[in-house]
Amino acid sequence: MISALSSGFLWALLPLSFFAATTYAAPTDGLPSAQSFYVSHIPDLHQDPDRPLRIYAGHLSSDPNATAVAAPTDLPQQLYFVIVKARRTADKERVIFWLNGGPGCSSFDGLMMEVGPWRVDGSGGLRAIEGGWEEYTTVVYVDQPVGTGFSISPSNKYLHELPDASRHWLQFLENFYTVFPEYKEMDTYLAGESFAGQYIPYFGQYLLPAAVSPNVLVPSDPSTAANAMLDSNLNLPLNGAAIGNGWIDGRSQYPSFLEYALKHQLVEANSDDYKRGKDITDRCMTDFDKEASTLDLEPIHTGLCESVLQTVIEHKTQFNKGKLMCLNMYDVRLDDVAPACGMNWPPDLKDIGTYLHRPDVVRALHATAAPVPWTECRGVIHTNFNTRHSNSSITIIPRMLERIPLMLFAGDQDFICNYVGIETLVQSMTWNGEKGLGTVQTQTWSVNNTAAGTWVTSRNLTYVKIFNASHMVGYDVPHVSHDMMLRFMGVNFSAITEGSARIPSSLGSDNKPVPILVTEDPTPTPVPGKTKEQNKAMWEAYYNAGSAALVLVIIAVLIAGFLFWRSRQKQHAVGLPLSREDIQEENIPLTSSNGNLDDHHREDRDDDDDDGSRMRKGKGRAGSALTPHEEIFGVGDDEDEDSRSPARQ
Ligand SMILES: *[C@@H]1O[C@H](CO)[C@@H](O)[C@H](O)[C@H]1NC(C)=O
Ligand SMILES: *[C@@H]1O[C@H](CO)[C@@H](O)[C@H](O)[C@H]1NC(C)=O
Ligand SMILES: *[C@@H]1O[C@H](CO)[C@@H](O)[C@H](O)[C@H]1NC(C)=O
Ligand SMILES: *[C@@H]1O[C@H](CO)[C@@H](O)[C@H](O)[C@H]1NC(C)=O
Ligand SMILES: *[C@@H]1O[C@H](CO)[C@@H](O)[C@H](O)[C@H]1NC(C)=O
Ligand SMILES: *[C@@H]1O[C@H](CO)[C@@H](O)[C@H](O)[C@H]1NC(C)=O
Repeated sequence: MISALSSGFLWALLPLSFFAATTYAAPTDGLPSAQSFYVSHIPDLHQDPDRPLRIYAGHLSSDPNATAVAAPTDLPQQLYFVIVKARRTADKERVIFWLNGGPGCSSFDGLMMEVGPWRVDGSGGLRAIEGGWEEYTTVVYVDQPVGTGFSISPSNKYLHELPDASRHWLQFLENFYTVFPEYKEMDTYLAGESFAGQYIPYFGQYLLPAAVSPNVLVPSDPSTAANAMLDSNLNLPLNGAAIGNGWIDGRSQYPSFLEYALKHQLVEANSDDYKRGKDITDRCMTDFDKEASTLDLEPIHTGLCESVLQTVIEHKTQFNKGKLMCLNMYDVRLDDVAPACGMNWPPDLKDIGTYLHRPDVVRALHATAAPVPWTECRGVIHTNFNTRHSNSSITIIPRMLERIPLMLFAGDQDFICNYVGIETLVQSMTWNGEKGLGTVQTQTWSVNNTAAGTWVTSRNLTYVKIFNASHMVGYDVPHVSHDMMLRFMGVNFSAITEGSARIPSSLGSDNKPVPILVTEDPTPTPVPGKTKEQNKAMWEAYYNAGSAALVLVIIAVLIAGFLFWRSRQKQHAVGLPLSREDIQEENIPLTSSNGNLDDHHREDRDDDDDDGSRMRKGKGRAGSALTPHEEIFGVGDDEDEDSRSPARQ
């Protein structure tokens, strides 16, 4: 037995090193290797030892023009990403790219408060949670556009328009897939929230003229152009997109502030408050039409319209116990001090900021090259990315729906991108040959035997209203949001047995099959190389324990698998239950792919964005009223209203 094993051992090394060579051959164009992105530990994350997370993170260039000519002192344009690999295997492998909005807000919002695997624990560390989307799907969180979160851009190259951001997105993806080619084969989804309601349709479908420079703000005739993701030569299996409480269509969403306020008794019909709201809404729509005809596009926002939200709920700003309080625009059940009005929320933000400023955390996350400390939402990016000449994504979504399913979901307690406006935009939109949802039946949906929301699908568009959830749905109801995404992606519930698979859920009459917990027969005899479940359990045990004994088991499995493969004379490599680089992970030393903050980076940092001192002042800007646009999309910091361009006012 032993000798058979040891003689097989050398054999086994052959395919192993073969895998290593093919998977890890350094990309020819000078990109870092996949290993260099491997995050060996997350400081102060109290993980369940039975389910360690596998994470890769770092920077990749997104500069469509990047050439070797760039002076070595130039700050590059790079996006920052965190890959959290699927913890369990469902019926197939899938990958979701997650984007937060703003513009200028970091996707660490999604990672640390919404759909990610952990939350801050209130004492400086992190606690692992259930309900994250990484349970059955690999999730890639991306900080974009350049300059957002840990991503990098010199201040003279901040982006302004969605076509620019789309170009950067594609360039980033090209590099991403060069480093991580395995994801190119997986079913791929885009998801995000808020202003990602603009990014996602653009990144998925926007017709990017190949010959047009990224600096040309107004794209040329889309019909002569190539698609961003769907038609790009990347040939991605983009299977769907999901937008949570998205900003998609100002024409429907600006009037929704008053409609929502009426419906939810935030304002009384025909009161003076109502009249004030009606007046500003009417003037906004006139302004909107004017802007639309001047620019020949659907505006994403207009100067006047940006004051509608604030005006409609102005009367909610009142002194209470000596503090000026106002409605939390992301969750109408809550209030906040003025003028933050929600920007202090969620309360986790403070600890997240503290955590992401720790040098050991920045090192562990391979973010040391970021030229400024992490900020949830960077005002200077928000200001620069004004999208004034970009057609709102509502003009793109119908074309997207010809190609892929799109899910719009909305937490019903959000005000800023509320469900009333999203319902209006859905009913006003014409797609796949018809206007609105048509005669389809809205279904009830429950998760864990509690009403979760309503669900309706028509001609590739799914609209989900989520009960008792804020702007950040996953923050309030992580298990509900996870069930929603699994259903949208068409995960075969019969094929999953662990973790959230045991949470009951039903959509209309479609009940999720919940596996029965088997309590007897606790020690089933393991039969080598048998069922998928057994193999999977073995692999999981390997990752978890990493003990020598288990390594031997793995090697035995590999040998068996290899011999089996040889005996079958198959053309393909052994079908390992998990991807190949996993084998390597345990041997990867803690590396940082990025250099430290160089002096020239410090010199190059944005003069108008002195985050170093500003961010520590917190979010409130004493005495000053919010600039409306920040209210619209920001979930946080805005250190530089004074630097916003005059065009935006
Ligand atoms: C890209 O290259 C074009 C053509 O050389 C140039 O005009 C433009 O400024 C460059 N864009 C960026 C973002 O560097
Ligand atoms: C914006 O989209 C609309 C609808 O597709 C189109 O008619 C219009 O020409 C577009 N405007 C620009 C500037 O691309
Ligand atoms: C919906 O999307 C699929 C691809 O998922 C596509 O084949 C189909 O044409 C689309 N349109 C309609 C009306 O369903
Ligand atoms: C599901 O509901 C049960 C009973 O109310 C509760 O104990 C459990 O924590 C819930 N599970 C989740 C994941 O919310
Ligand atoms: C959750 O939402 C439902 C539907 O809107 C409502 O009936 C229920 O009272 C809400 N539950 C809580 C705890 O707010
Ligand atoms: C779902 O998974 C079950 C169990 O693996 C399998 O029997 C069934 O055929 C699958 N259904 C589909 C639609 O693939």
